[in-house]
Amino acid sequence: MVVGIIESRCVLVLGATSGIGRSLALALHDLPSKPTVIVGGRRQERLDELAKTSDRIKGVQVDVTAGREALRGFVKDTLATYPDLDAVIFSSGIQLEFDFNHPEQVDLDALENELTTNYTSIVTLITLFLPHFLKLNEQGRPSFIIPVSSALSIVPAPWVPNYAATKAAIHSLSISLGAQFRETNIRVLEVIPPLVESELHDHQGTTPALSRVWMPLSEFTEKAMAGLVKGNSQIPVGFAAANWEVFEKGKEEKALQSYQHTLQLHKELK
Ligand SMILES: NC(=O)c1ccc[n+]([C@@H]2O[C@H](COP(=O)([O-])OP(=O)(O)OC[C@H]3O[C@@H](n4cnc5c(N)ncnc54)[C@H](OP(=O)(O)O)[C@@H]3O)[C@@H](O)[C@H]2O)c1
Repeated sequence: MVVGIIESRCVLVLGATSGIGRSLALALHDLPSKPTVIVGGRRQERLDELAKTSDRIKGVQVDVTAGREALRGFVKDTLATYPDLDAVIFSSGIQLEFDFNHPEQVDLDALENELTTNYTSIVTLITLFLPHFLKLNEQGRPSFIIPVSSALSIVPAPWVPNYAATKAAIHSLSISLGAQFRETNIRVLEVIPPLVESELHDHQGTTPALSRVWMPLSEFTEKAMAGLVKGNSQIPVGFAAANWEVFEKGKEEKALQSYQHTLQLHKELK
């Protein structure tokens, strides 16, 4: 049976201080199932502002680049305070431009920070939350891992090459985890946004130009929530959906088949 986010009792949204994460957090809060929504990010004043709006919205300050031990502590504390947690949305992310025609200008520290923020921190946090989700699975309860990738995970944007690579990594990871958890109640629901209204591009100075063509946050949120409620494993929205049809259709099934085939081979070789 396919279950959707409506089954969740308590959702953690990382990157909830602005843009997509904030909007999804508020939409989740408004579900008739009335989940508790924990909002995470670095900007405390924005967490406080959100938490003030409802008793069911709780703020937790977190920097996802703080390192493995800090994230281990964050997961432990979060689960001690919210043992009902059964869903995590990974919306924290940054986007940087790099021009490899000028390698002397490629800031490798910034590049590594983008990789840590958009990929390594997420796979680390997923690993750290999994023992809890596997326990829920033993109790017959569903749980949800919800990575936010990007249309650029499907067709890269060469002006943000490292960003697109981190999103391709998240996309690939989502498909693999979906296959690995196929026999469990752990659902991987990957949200694949197009260009959407947010603060992501503010530091590049491109927001005024992009705001003429981006998808309004309200429209995006409605579409993404529809996919999350249905429990769709891939939720491409807007032009991401058009690219998904051309380049991605059938990939998940193919990955699952190859996984099952390999498992069978391993069994026969034992
Ligand atoms: N907007 C788009 O066009 C678009 C398209 C495709 C995919 N996406 C993806 O959607 C996700 C949300 O982005 P957005 O567009 O909503 O951008 P945004 O408005 O800039 O939001 C980014 C969020 O990430 C958080 N964040 C960044 N670095 C963090 C860190 N080190 N630790 C904890 N939180 C951190 C920020 O919170 P703090 O600064 O308070 O920490 C903020 O809440 C990202 O993964 C992005 O790549 C966006």
